[in-house]
Amino acid sequence: MKAIITGANRGIGFALATTLKAKGWEVLALCRKATPELKALGVSIEEGVDVTSENSLQKIADRHKDEKFDLLINNAGINHRMNLDAINYEAIHELFETNTLGPIKTTLAFLPLLNEGAKIAMISSIAGSIGDIKEGGRYGYRMSKAALNSFSKTLSIDLKEKNIPVIILHPGLVQTDMTEGSGDFTPAQAAENLLKRIEELTLEKTGSFLRATGEPLPF
Ligand SMILES: NC(=O)c1ccc[n+]([C@@H]2O[C@H](COP(=O)([O-])OP(=O)(O)OC[C@H]3O[C@@H](n4cnc5c(N)ncnc54)[C@H](OP(=O)(O)O)[C@@H]3O)[C@@H](O)[C@H]2O)c1
Repeated sequence: MKAIITGANRGIGFALATTLKAKGWEVLALCRKATPELKALGVSIEEGVDVTSENSLQKIADRHKDEKFDLLINNAGINHRMNLDAINYEAIHELFETNTLGPIKTTLAFLPLLNEGAKIAMISSIAGSIGDIKEGGRYGYRMSKAALNSFSKTLSIDLKEKNIPVIILHPGLVQTDMTEGSGDFTPAQAAENLLKRIEELTLEKTGSFLRATGEPLPF
């Protein structure tokens, strides 16, 4: 079984690559720049892959056009903290470019390389759940993930006929650079949980938005 992961050089993406490799998967790790840890993992690595750049994605998709993959994990993402008194349009733009348009561009570039019956996982966030908003702040990040969820849900319907289920996942609060190392889960624990949900994914469950621990989330 073969998987493609974006943002595989550190954080949750690296943990996903590590866990999949340990489970016997072949991994194509996409990243802007490989870390020594990723280089030491023994998976296929493609550097220079910026999810905001269609060109960089297409170049890699073309290079692997004779391969078929069983799983695409759209993991790469960024966060900018933003309250009402400090709305920053440039930062919001960057959040949408990376967290929303990035997974769209990646999915479209690699869709022709997916097997029938392959799976697509979007690493979204509970922050993208409009139904769950209980406090203010976090403007751009929430918006970018809510838009990702909207794309992913729509995609899940369009890809049903190709027999490709799509799942939208919240990894939990995970100890990575994004959270400055705080959180409830180590990246390895988060990766295990996320991969359990992906394993359970069937066409009947396509379009679901779940915590990595399995509980459904409202859109
Ligand atoms: N950590 C949490 O608690 C948490 C909670 C909810 C959701 N998430 C989501 O989980 C995913 C992974 O987050 P993380 O915690 O592992 O964050 P992280 O440690 O900051 O890692 C982010 C990863 O995304 C990559 N990336 C960012 N912008 C990119 C771009 N334009 N092109 C290619 N790669 C790019 C980074 O690559 P570089 O090294 O090149 O920057 C890095 O590999 C994100 O989508 C995040 O929103 C995380």
